[in-house]
Amino acid sequence: MARILTGIQSSGEIHLGNILGAIMPGVKLSKEEQNQSLFFIADFHSLTTLKDSEARIKAVRNVAAAWLAFGFDTDRNIFYKQSDIPEVCELTWYLNCYTPFPMLANAHSFKDKSENLSDVNAGLFSYPVLMASDILMYDAEIVPVGKDQKQHLEITRDIASKMNHIYGENLFVMPEASISEDVMTIPGTDGRKMSKSYNNYINIFLPDKALKKVVMGIVTDDKTLEESKDPDACNVFAIFKLLASTTEVEAMRNNYIKGNYGYGHAKLELFNCIINKFSAERAKFNELMAAPEKIDEALAIGAEKAREIASPVLQRVRAALGF
Ligand code: ADP
Ligand code: TRP
Repeated sequence: MARILTGIQSSGEIHLGNILGAIMPGVKLSKEEQNQSLFFIADFHSLTTLKDSEARIKAVRNVAAAWLAFGFDTDRNIFYKQSDIPEVCELTWYLNCYTPFPMLANAHSFKDKSENLSDVNAGLFSYPVLMASDILMYDAEIVPVGKDQKQHLEITRDIASKMNHIYGENLFVMPEASISEDVMTIPGTDGRKMSKSYNNYINIFLPDKALKKVVMGIVTDDKTLEESKDPDACNVFAIFKLLASTTEVEAMRNNYIKGNYGYGHAKLELFNCIINKFSAERAKFNELMAAPEKIDEALAIGAEKAREIASPVLQRVRAALGF
């Protein structure tokens, strides 16, 4: 049984892109007999950019409630919040002292962020070392991540291999990145990749009225109701296709082509489809957000299980380094 670990940023609202691209595949993985996964909310990492404490608490609960609402199996797997195991910061310090400065200075994500953010702090600079610590602290073997995180995994392996070379090959388990190239990119309301950064996202957990407003705001061309339309060039159809059944998709395709079917009709169908498809998850999410102590309780159980794995690893490192 391989040990799988991945971190989830807690940086705001959850959208349809996160759900189809990360949550649903992750939940599926959590139910597969042969896996034991550690999934954690990277709230220490969020401090590099998010300074508002209320917003942080809310973002953590939002992410946790979404994963729980979609049925992440917390019995067989470990679901926790990074900051509940603050020992990860101790390990980060050790790793920092073996991390060459230029390796961090040249990392793509640091270069990107330092060019685009006004607050370029040291946390942002050592972000990959905290991530290495997240991984090495739990003897993780497989780390599913998006393509943008590939370099962070290389940095993790570099640090681990350098320390193993000095202190013995049994110090750290060497993790492998698992990068799924075929994860589809969910388009947003303006046709670009759905993302919080573009503000083009659909938060399926919004109340009906607010959700409807977002769906009705999807960008289309200005063809009249009567005109025939090209489904494959339309953002509404592109999103509907990902959620509806084959029969429903074919019916909408025919409506587009034959005309007398407006974008307003298509948007309304998409809205109803979202409400129906995710009715159980929306209800569960609201129930959890209304009783956040249930979310905190689930995370506390996860933290206990996570610490059982982390403590002996940290002891091993302390002993090797002479602490
Ligand atoms: P955002 O771009 O909104 O900030 P994140 O970077 O926090 O989203 O993404 C969290 C997870 O959701 C990642 O695993 C990412 O691959 C997935 N994800 C985000 N947006 C999309 C999308 N449009 N299509 C598919 N997956 C996505
Ligand atoms: N940096 C990752 C991201 O932005 C989140 C993350 C933090 C992570 N620690 C991790 C992912 C450890 C995998 C393993 O998505």
